[in-house]
Amino acid sequence: AIDIEKLRTLTGAITLDPGYKNSGSCQSEITFLDGEEGILRYRGYSIEELAEKADFLEVSYLVIFGELPTKDQLTKFENDIRKHTLVNEEMKNIIDGFPKTAHPMGVLSSLTSALTAFNPKPVNVENEKEMYEAVCKTMGKFLVIATWTYRKMKGYPLNYYDNTKGYVENFMRLMFEIPTEPYKMNPIVTNALDKLFILHADHEQNCSTSTVRIVGSSHAGLFASISAGVSALWGPLHGGANQAVLEMLEAIQADGGDAEKYMAKAKDKDDPFRLMGFGHRVYKNFDPRARIIKKAADEVLNDLGVDDPILDIAKKLEAAALVDDYFVSRKLYPNVDFYSGIIYRALGIPTDMFTVMFAIGRLPGWIAQWKEMRLNKEPIGRPRQVYTGYPLREFVPVEKR
Ligand code: ACO
Repeated sequence: AIDIEKLRTLTGAITLDPGYKNSGSCQSEITFLDGEEGILRYRGYSIEELAEKADFLEVSYLVIFGELPTKDQLTKFENDIRKHTLVNEEMKNIIDGFPKTAHPMGVLSSLTSALTAFNPKPVNVENEKEMYEAVCKTMGKFLVIATWTYRKMKGYPLNYYDNTKGYVENFMRLMFEIPTEPYKMNPIVTNALDKLFILHADHEQNCSTSTVRIVGSSHAGLFASISAGVSALWGPLHGGANQAVLEMLEAIQADGGDAEKYMAKAKDKDDPFRLMGFGHRVYKNFDPRARIIKKAADEVLNDLGVDDPILDIAKKLEAAALVDDYFVSRKLYPNVDFYSGIIYRALGIPTDMFTVMFAIGRLPGWIAQWKEMRLNKEPIGRPRQVYTGYPLREFVPVEKR
C-alpha cells in the first residue's frame, strides 16, 4: 500500500481540495455571490435591479470597466462594438471546413481560437485604449461568429451585423434571417433574451471563468483564453446543462411523459441519472437568477401563447422537486439553466444552440476576469497535487514484461 503520509513529507504540505470547493484562487472586485443567502451582484449592483433596469451592453460595460456607463459612454461603446463586427473573409473558409453536423460549441471554440490568426498582436492590458479596443473587438466578432455556427448547421449564407439595430436584436437577425425574408423583430423575444444575457454575464470563479483566468495567467491572449472558456462551458455539468435539460425533457416525453418515474430515477443512488437543471455548486438556497428568469419564462410563454407538452413536463418536475424530501434536504433547486432552456425553446432557438447563447451572455464576464487577472499581475495558475501512484520502480525491458 502507498504511504500517502510519507509521500506528503517528501513533497511538502499540500492542501487537497478536489473541485476547489473551498479554495479561493484570486481576489476579485467583479461579482459578489452569497450562495447561502441567494445573492448575486455585479460590481455592487443587485442582479434583480440590473435585470429590470439595464440592458445587456450597459451591464457588459459595468462588468468589464467597473462602473455603469454614462449615456455618451454607452452610445460610444455600442458604436465601437459595431465597428468591429466585420470578420475576416478567410474565417469563412475555416467554417466551410466543418461538417454541418458539428456541434456549434466546438465550432465556436475553434473559430474564437482562429481569430488569433487574424489578430495576432498581443493586447497591452495596461494601455486603456488598447484594452478598450480589444473589448469592443471581442464583443463584436464573437457575436457574429457565434451566430455563424448556427447558419453553418442550417446551410444558410453567412451574414453581417445590421448597424441600425441593437446588439441583442442583431443576435436574432444574424441567426434567423433568410435571404428571401427579412427577420421580423419581436420585442417580447428581444427583451427576454436581453434579460437572459444579463443574468449570465458573470458568475465569479465558475469552471469556464476559472479556465479563462488560468489560461490567461500564462499570458496567452484574450481570444485564446476565451476559446478555452467556451470549451469549458460546453460540458453538461456547466453551460451544457441548458441543452441537457431540454434533451432530458424530450426523453421523458418520448417515454410517456411520466415525471414521477424520472424523479424516482434521480433519487436512486444505483442509477446515474440526474435531474438536469437542478442543484448548484454554490447556491444552496434558490438561485437568484432562476427566480428572475422563472418570472420571465412565465411571461414569455403567456405573451407568445406557447402550448408545449415538454413545458408541462418541466412544470411537473419543478413542482415535485420543490416538495420532495430528497431534493429539499440536499437543497437541489431549479437553477438558471432549467428556465433558460425553457425560454430558448419557446423563442424557437434550436437545442444545439442553447450553450452558445450562454457563451454570448458570459462573454463580458470572461473579458472582465481576464483583464482583472492580468492587471492584478497574478502569477501563473499552477495547482499542486497529492501523488498517490507507485513509489520508485525499476524499469523492466519489454521482453521480460
Ligand atoms: N439530480 C439528482 N441528485 C442530485 C442532483 C441532481 N441534479 N444534483 C446533485 N444531486 C445529489 C448528489 O447525488 C448528491 O447526493 P448524496 O449527498 O446523496 O451523494 C448531492 O445531491 C450533492 O451533489 P454533488 O454532486 O456533490 O453537488 P455538487 O455541488 O458537486 O454539484 C452540480 C453541483 C454539478 C450542479 C449538480 O447539482 C448537478 O450535476 N446538477 C445537474 C446538472 C446541472 O444542472 N448543471 C448546471 C449547473 S448551473 C450552471 O452551470 C450555470
